[in-house]
Amino acid sequence: MSDSKSIASGKGSHEPEHDYATGLATIAADKVADPGLEPHRVRMTDKSVKHEKAAARQVAALFLASVVGSIFSIYAYFAFPLSDDLGTVRNNTLFMGLGITLGLFGIGIGAVHWAKTLMPDAEVAEERHQTRGSEEVRARAVEIIKLADSESGFSRRKLIRRSLYGALALFPIPAIFFFGDLGPNPKDTLRHTMWKAGTRLTKDPSGLPIKASDVTLGSVFHVIPEGLSELEHHKLEEKAKAAVLLVRLDPSELKESAERKSWSYDGIVAYSKICTHVGCPVALYEQHTHHLLCPCHQSTFDVTDECKVVFGPASRPLPQLPIAVDAEGYLIAQSDFTEPVGPSFWER
Ligand code: FES
Repeated sequence: MSDSKSIASGKGSHEPEHDYATGLATIAADKVADPGLEPHRVRMTDKSVKHEKAAARQVAALFLASVVGSIFSIYAYFAFPLSDDLGTVRNNTLFMGLGITLGLFGIGIGAVHWAKTLMPDAEVAEERHQTRGSEEVRARAVEIIKLADSESGFSRRKLIRRSLYGALALFPIPAIFFFGDLGPNPKDTLRHTMWKAGTRLTKDPSGLPIKASDVTLGSVFHVIPEGLSELEHHKLEEKAKAAVLLVRLDPSELKESAERKSWSYDGIVAYSKICTHVGCPVALYEQHTHHLLCPCHQSTFDVTDECKVVFGPASRPLPQLPIAVDAEGYLIAQSDFTEPVGPSFWER
């Protein structure tokens, strides 16, 4: 009986199991057989000076393409400044991204092309050794590095070397602009919003002022400050800070501290819409439980209890906007928020 048959039958006695193991050993032995090296193929760049020079020019061209890409991304940053115009923001992202892609692509492909066409392609086997070699080995390593330098032409090929330096030097510069856009320190910018005494509460996005009588029991309004839509600059930033949720509850259900008793109007309360965890808009109101839910990580705030956190990772309540009504019955702010809105991981 052959091994393959024993493996296939494999039941009833111990002999087939023995054959099975033997069969596996045979297969394993076959699989790890050393295939040896393929015959060495001499590259065109090894045979012809003309091809070698052409390859060197191609490598330099790729590094120069990287330089162009990096410069283009800087140009795109200034040509399409970030503003309230979403089309410009889209162009900023698109063209800066293309520039950076070319910057990375040029360096990466240039380095690969250099290695494949101009650096030595001989197969080398290195025996394993301890991490730190002897002095002799270390001296030999220095020799090898020098040899690699001379064989790769890093010192000798000035065009490639300088273009690579240029590509590497320019590539990180766009990051300066990107990181610059992360500032300024939000500590101060989140401390103040557009709300001030007398600012009317208006519907988002229509900007229509809201009368207290419009806010029926259980209803929720997404609110922005009056005048926001007339802003010429930083409209989105101001909206992101000043957005408010307006809810009307039965006044008997509100648990208001003495200090905040005058911050609501006939059961109508206004809270910042910006989650105090990491700043998502809190947009889901559960009328039955009077809970506001942040969809990002499920932080839940109790509207009846000064929007204290009842669940989730947020560490502080949503800031409350003190409100009142003006002579015409429109809802107005009594002041700005009394604490910073938004994420609370900055030192406040
Ligand atoms: S941002 Fe709201 S829970 Fe994380």
